Amino acid sequence: MSLFICPLCQSPLQPAADTWRCDGSLHPKQTSHPFDVARQGYVNLLPVQQKKSKAPGDSQESINARKRFLNHGHYAPLQNLIVQKMAALLSKSEATEAKDTQSVNWLDIGCGEGYYTQAMAQLGSDIIDTLIAADISKPALVELAKVSKAAGRLWYQQNESSAAKTTAIYPLVTSAAHLPLRSRSVTGISSIFSPILPEAFAEVLADDGYLIIAKPDAGHLATMRDALFDDVREHDSDKFLHELAPYFTLLGTDNVSTEMTLSTDDLADLMTMTPYAYRARSEKRQALLTAVEKASFKTEAKFVVYILQKKALS
Ligand SMILES: C[S@@+](CC[C@H](N)C(=O)[O-])C[C@H]1O[C@@H](n2cnc3c(N)ncnc32)[C@H](O)[C@@H]1O
Ligand SMILES: [Zn+2]
Repeated sequence: MSLFICPLCQSPLQPAADTWRCDGSLHPKQTSHPFDVARQGYVNLLPVQQKKSKAPGDSQESINARKRFLNHGHYAPLQNLIVQKMAALLSKSEATEAKDTQSVNWLDIGCGEGYYTQAMAQLGSDIIDTLIAADISKPALVELAKVSKAAGRLWYQQNESSAAKTTAIYPLVTSAAHLPLRSRSVTGISSIFSPILPEAFAEVLADDGYLIIAKPDAGHLATMRDALFDDVREHDSDKFLHELAPYFTLLGTDNVSTEMTLSTDDLADLMTMTPYAYRARSEKRQALLTAVEKASFKTEAKFVVYILQKKALS
């Protein structure tokens, strides 16, 4: 059974190397819809009517800044924690038993340019068969697809008969609100600093499926915020947990923090990729960058990782 559904008519959608096609079975006129695979290796499954702006999601500028910053390894402790948690959840006996009969499909929603997604893929096909990397930003998916293609991880680069089977990545431009995935088809979802849509996630998750959420913790980048704002407000509360409660049980939370020593370039990138820093007065931003030219800047990144499981339907 197909994992994907058509964003226009919800009929089963068949992946291919050049053009994905739905079978039109749910379309009133049985029309089949084609979706071309872009040269870089992503598929755009975001219909114009679901676009709220011309270029939704993160811009090329913020993708570039995040890529440079993350590739310097500043958030590696969080990346390690996330993949360790995933490996532990998915190598549990129930998941392994299920794996004999059905494949493990993981959705990384709001994946950005894929710093966490690529680490998930490195867990290998013993843990994850299929990794759906989804984001509403086209520039993010272009970057993610290029890296996946260079590593030979795109779905059409997989050779079933090869002994060294890798996790297959499907890079999709899509909205979290209209996931082009069959009901109950995914084993787990990660939302790393990205949108959380309880009902949409519960719809595509298999029974007992997992949800991993990463968010900034209280005190995240405190010294940077002190330098940028006169009045520092704390991060939002756990309101999202109340919204998830009808569909999910919280299995546990983990905190991770890391001291960072940043150069001027790192700090400039961090401010570009951090929306609230971007909103600071430009004089304050400039003053901070000028001060850091003389001595590097120290700040602490603090995160919380929530692990949840879909409740059985009553
Ligand atoms: C803060 S970034 C996090 C990216 C990545 N997970 C990381 O941590 O490096 C949030 C991402 O969510 C994406 N996004 C925002 N709204 C979205 C939506 N409705 N559906 C899918 N992705 C969305 C943005 O384009 C952006 O790439
Ligand atoms: Zn269709």
